[in-house]
Amino acid sequence: MDKILVLDFGGQYDQLIARRVRSESVYAEIVNYDRITVEEIRKEAYKGIIFTGGPKSVYANDAPLYDGKILELGVPVLGICYGHQLMAHLLKGKIVPSGNGSEYGKTEVTISPSILFKDMPERSVCWMSHTDFVEEIPEGFSVIARTGKCACAAMADEERRLYGVQFHPEVSHTEYGQQVIRNFLFEICGCERNWQMEDFLEESIRRYRRELEGEKVMLGLSGGVDSLVSAVLLNKAIGKDLVCVLIDHGLFRENEVEEVERTVRKQFDINLIRADAKKRFLDHLKGITDPEEKRKTIGEDFVRVFEEEAEKLKNIAILAQGTIYPDLIESGKGDSATIKSHHNVGGLPKDIRFKKIVEPLSSLFKDEVRELGIKMGIPEYLVYRQPFPGPGLAVRIIGEVTEEKLKVLKRADAIFRKEMKKAGCKSDQCFAVLCEGKSVGVKGDERAYGYTVALRAVNTDDFMTAEWTRIPYEVLESSSNRICNEIKEVSRVVYDITSKPPGTIEWE
Ligand code: XMP
Repeated sequence: MDKILVLDFGGQYDQLIARRVRSESVYAEIVNYDRITVEEIRKEAYKGIIFTGGPKSVYANDAPLYDGKILELGVPVLGICYGHQLMAHLLKGKIVPSGNGSEYGKTEVTISPSILFKDMPERSVCWMSHTDFVEEIPEGFSVIARTGKCACAAMADEERRLYGVQFHPEVSHTEYGQQVIRNFLFEICGCERNWQMEDFLEESIRRYRRELEGEKVMLGLSGGVDSLVSAVLLNKAIGKDLVCVLIDHGLFRENEVEEVERTVRKQFDINLIRADAKKRFLDHLKGITDPEEKRKTIGEDFVRVFEEEAEKLKNIAILAQGTIYPDLIESGKGDSATIKSHHNVGGLPKDIRFKKIVEPLSSLFKDEVRELGIKMGIPEYLVYRQPFPGPGLAVRIIGEVTEEKLKVLKRADAIFRKEMKKAGCKSDQCFAVLCEGKSVGVKGDERAYGYTVALRAVNTDDFMTAEWTRIPYEVLESSSNRICNEIKEVSRVVYDITSKPPGTIEWE
């Protein structure tokens, strides 16, 4: 199998690069720059190497540098952003801070002929995000792209097959980004398309069988697709040494916990325990209104319940979670900013008693997780279920979570989803949110003073960005009527028309 090494220098989009390579059916392996030597790289016989971006300047004291011999291996290299500057730096080029400010966002780029830019127009839009730039290219190189502000937006030494691009071909805003990746893989490295999701599956099974030999592992099933796919995958690797725990925290949607339990028991031969912890979660959420504090409290409770269950069963020292790659990015991995502490990432307490955490899906995006689920034979209706956040309805109740609010939200949410389904209205995720405070209405001839329910529905591919769903008025109307008529505590229904960004999908 042909392999590409993605040498990670701390960029925000490292997994995205690997994903773009994988989407061309070529295997990509991400390795941190300080975890692999040039000699090891030579032995691995990679077909090509990609240097990722990174937040530092090559001249910073703590800049992540690398042994220049990597460029003498005869293996093609593509440097991206910081990686492009690093390549120039290692070969005695000159990098300087931009005199006229950073270049950020969509930028027009003009290219010159190069095999890296095969089948691309002379001008197109690329995505830039940098402050430093290459002022003097190294010997043997030529400039192959420019922008208004950047005289060297790309450089190449076609003979040695070394390439650098200042822009980010891996992000979707770069119009011909995938073409650049394709040209690098097939025209320059000579890769063959010989990697598929089955390979990821087989490799993961082999890896976890080896890594987890003789261990017992506990995994939290939330009813969502990520934890289910993780469970089925680990079950294939270690069978009954995997114990799944379905924590009933009381924050599930209407009838959900029963449905999840029934389905898992019926469909899969998996060890499953249901732990009733409704009172504990609700007690600990009392008085908490801050979203981050809510998430952290829930994260802590999850782990404590897992620990207690593990203690009952003895000898379970490993916790597995269905964390996927976007959860890591948004919880503030490395240098990226924290958007939300996903309860299975940022919300974990420091003094956790498990000795190890295993996250088999942490390099995958949602659509890849679904593909993997299908490959493992999980029925489509489960694989294509709407995602549900780990902290459950707690992040859909603005302000303090109470039993009464949970009851109201569960009903409103069930009505909305039923109306959507009845009308055949397609949306990648839809749910109800209970707003803080009350508003005045009139029901019958009486003054009503009740909750406001917000309806949220979005269309999205990867849940990193999303558009609000254009729901037909009739569906909004029937949902609003039913919610107000059937739930006496609700006096108003509104529809959220915010895309992501700037809004996130969940309200908290
Ligand atoms: P946001 O609100 O961040 O949501 O735009 C993106 C997707 O992630 C889900 N989500 C979570 N999933 N744990 C999870 O497992 C969490 O803490 C969490 N928070 C949000 C959300 O439902 C949406 O699909």
